[in-house]
Amino acid sequence: MKELRIGLIGYGFMGKAHSNAYRRVPNFFNLDYTPVLKAVCGRDKEKAEAFAKQWGYESVETDWRKVIDRKDIDAVDICTPNNTHKEIALAAAKAGKMILCEKPLARNAEEGREMVKAVESAGVPNMVWYNYRRVPAVSLAKQLIDEGKLGRIFHFRALFLQDWTISADLPQGGTALWRLDAAAAGSGVTGDLLAHCIDTAIWLNGGVASVGAMTETFVKERKHNLTGKVEKVGIDDACAFLARFKNGSLATFESTRYARGHKALYTFEINGEHASIAWDLHDLHRLSYFEHRDPGYLRGWRSVHVTDGDHPYMNHWWVPGLQIGYEHTFVHQVADFIEGLSKKQPAHPTFKDALETQIICDTVLKAAKTGCFEKVPEV
Ligand SMILES: NC(=O)c1ccc[n+]([C@@H]2O[C@H](COP(=O)([O-])OP(=O)(O)OC[C@H]3O[C@@H](n4cnc5c(N)ncnc54)[C@H](O)[C@@H]3O)[C@@H](O)[C@H]2O)c1
Repeated sequence: MKELRIGLIGYGFMGKAHSNAYRRVPNFFNLDYTPVLKAVCGRDKEKAEAFAKQWGYESVETDWRKVIDRKDIDAVDICTPNNTHKEIALAAAKAGKMILCEKPLARNAEEGREMVKAVESAGVPNMVWYNYRRVPAVSLAKQLIDEGKLGRIFHFRALFLQDWTISADLPQGGTALWRLDAAAAGSGVTGDLLAHCIDTAIWLNGGVASVGAMTETFVKERKHNLTGKVEKVGIDDACAFLARFKNGSLATFESTRYARGHKALYTFEINGEHASIAWDLHDLHRLSYFEHRDPGYLRGWRSVHVTDGDHPYMNHWWVPGLQIGYEHTFVHQVADFIEGLSKKQPAHPTFKDALETQIICDTVLKAAKTGCFEKVPEV
């Protein structure tokens, strides 16, 4: 058994999700490598030490550069805000480390291109944590499309709705609210939420040719946590866009943090010539499927409980009928990354795959500004 020695940078929400995945993966998957939690890095030493104790990290660093310099670390896991991804990834690639980077790849495609160049010229294994691909029901959707069950695809429809930034009193920036600060996040719901929808969409339905979009920033000024001053808000609070896929299908995407009552309503529906599929994060272990070729008297939407041993990933978990959840998507992603190492094949999405999503996000934001349909540039 080989070791995969992890240096985790950032111990927030994703730091926990990834640490949990590294710990669980050897219990449920038979792999050639076992993750070893070598070091966690955070700027607050006390908090980083408490995290290390809770999750079983062997050591703590307070400067991410130290993690990259360490000879006893094989893979650097970037779980920090978007404005730090490029600098950390470039340094890690230069040091020959494998890199697992949180999404979005970067704040914009320009940064993303540099990151792709860096990992490709260093030849280091790399992956971006677009974890929703690895919800078994979403992987099943991919299987059905690849098997040709839907036939020609006409429509793709995706939503990602939240409601946590409606209060005008909510500040922007700093450790807790970096997502509202354009300098740290790059963009608002487009890079944060629609990036997930886009990654899933291009995985399921291929590349996007052109987009037309509208965005809105409902609260124009917020107090900035770092300066204490009221400052202009630079992120998009809401974004809706139309897309034309390269395969000729049409799509609508919508995301907002102002949909009162919705916390993380991520849904998509795909309509094909012979069948349709639909998925809802709130019921993530189910896939809705409509098959037009069924006999007429039986035709209707079925709800597949994606928990059987022959469903994607499910033979690693419990007995049929017992479901798994959100955290397991990260376990699956680690398992696939390690399988990729064994087979010397990339685990997707790679930095390059994630750059495609980044380019679409940039084009959406451009289209919202110009008010015109914009062609999506090639990666
Ligand atoms: N895959 C997903 O579904 C998903 C979900 C949430 C967040 N994310 C992404 O994960 C990344 C982190 O988001 P989060 O929700 O975990 O944020 P978070 O605010 O919960 O955690 C960020 C962590 O980074 C640390 N940090 C910030 N700057 C640092 C620096 N210079 N050096 C070391 N540590 C630093 C913070 O102290 C904190 O521990 C973002 O890129 C975000 O878009 C992905």
